[in-house]
Amino acid sequence: MSVLQIAGGRPLSGIVRVQGAKNSALPIMAAAVLAEGISVIENCPKLSDTDVTIRILRYIGCEVWQDGDCLYIDSSKPIIPEIPDSLMGEMRSSVVFLGAILARAGEARLSTPGGCELGPRPIDLHISALRTLGTEIDDSGGRLVCKTAGLVGGRIDFPNPSVGATENAMLAATRAEGVTVITNAAKEPEIEDLQSFLQKTGALVAGAGTSQIRIRGTGAAHGARHRVIPDRIAACTWLAACASAGGEVKLYDTEPRHYLSVIHSLHEMGCSIEAGEGMVTIKRKDTLRAPRPIITNPYPAFPTDAQPPLMAAALKAEGTTVFVENIFENRYRHAEEMKRMGADIKTEGKTAIVCGVRKLKGAVVKAADLRGGAALAVAALGAEGVSEIRGLNHIDRGYESIETALAELGAEVQRI
Ligand code: UD1
Repeated sequence: MSVLQIAGGRPLSGIVRVQGAKNSALPIMAAAVLAEGISVIENCPKLSDTDVTIRILRYIGCEVWQDGDCLYIDSSKPIIPEIPDSLMGEMRSSVVFLGAILARAGEARLSTPGGCELGPRPIDLHISALRTLGTEIDDSGGRLVCKTAGLVGGRIDFPNPSVGATENAMLAATRAEGVTVITNAAKEPEIEDLQSFLQKTGALVAGAGTSQIRIRGTGAAHGARHRVIPDRIAACTWLAACASAGGEVKLYDTEPRHYLSVIHSLHEMGCSIEAGEGMVTIKRKDTLRAPRPIITNPYPAFPTDAQPPLMAAALKAEGTTVFVENIFENRYRHAEEMKRMGADIKTEGKTAIVCGVRKLKGAVVKAADLRGGAALAVAALGAEGVSEIRGLNHIDRGYESIETALAELGAEVQRI
């Protein structure tokens, strides 16, 4: 089992390319099931989550091959409308295959993804959306057995915006007869990216990026070529790394307008940030100050996935930083590990209170989830001495090679 060793306490200096967005690539790969032909997904990040998705695609009968960062998916043959439990269990976001398989085959059988490291992850909104479109769903015994005699467009009004449920509803609606209107839809940039891929395959979808999405069902779609947007959470992680360690870092192939809320908080902390076309430069020379409360909420508010890395950056900020986590129940597991480095954090329910300390010291810590794990690396960069981060399998789900990116930024880091 490999670990990440980081010798912290020295400023960063370097330039790094931001990978393609994991949370765009996964639903687009599922959407390729509906595009009967060959789809080419450019800028596809090489992650363990994309590997699992490739294995799912192959299992259901698609041919998949890679050339550099291009992923080719040939979904022209009939598909097997089933995902085995072993593959479903490896990645919660595999639930986005539900809408795609159902729309393609008229049936879908998979296991319910269940809870995960961030607390309970219900899929009631996915199920009710698909029922609205005319699907019979038996969700007893940890399995989802879905069948439709033909999807029919309808009005789906989400009580709260869910990224995955919006994606599933969009995918299914592209094959439903008539018009589907999704209200209170998630507005994340990854939803817009999915719309953009679907449009290229011939689907009639509009409104993504706003809270109302309209889809007119069509027949079979065709393969398309699409470039995945840059990963906004990876970008926020590298910015937080510079805020934690100090120095000057430049990111390219990034889309700063997708993470303005995070840039805003880093600016309040005293970082100077210049954002331009496809690039961002961050400088942190002096001691950081605590920013105003960081409150996670659906896009365009502060993203829950950027909360852990920003907490890592705030550990040494002068004053008290308040975090309020409104999306997931169990998203402060990194806090206990950060305390091993000398951080002063109190958590209660949705709130975490970080009192800035003068120094952090390297420690042996363990990642419990993807972004929490990356946050430990960010904290380690600002800590004096050597840290060892275990549980790298979590980090590898979402970062192409965290040690390479951090080394490009001048960090002393190695995977052992
Ligand atoms: C996606 C992202 C994840 C991110 C999250 C929130 C992917 C692969 N993952 O996850 O990185 O942290 O958005 O931005 O894109 N909910 C329900 N019922 C449902 C579905 C969701 O109550 O059926 C709740 C969830 O428990 C959570 C909230 O809705 O409190 C938002 O979750 P959702 O947007 O669905 O997250 P994911 O799509 O799983």
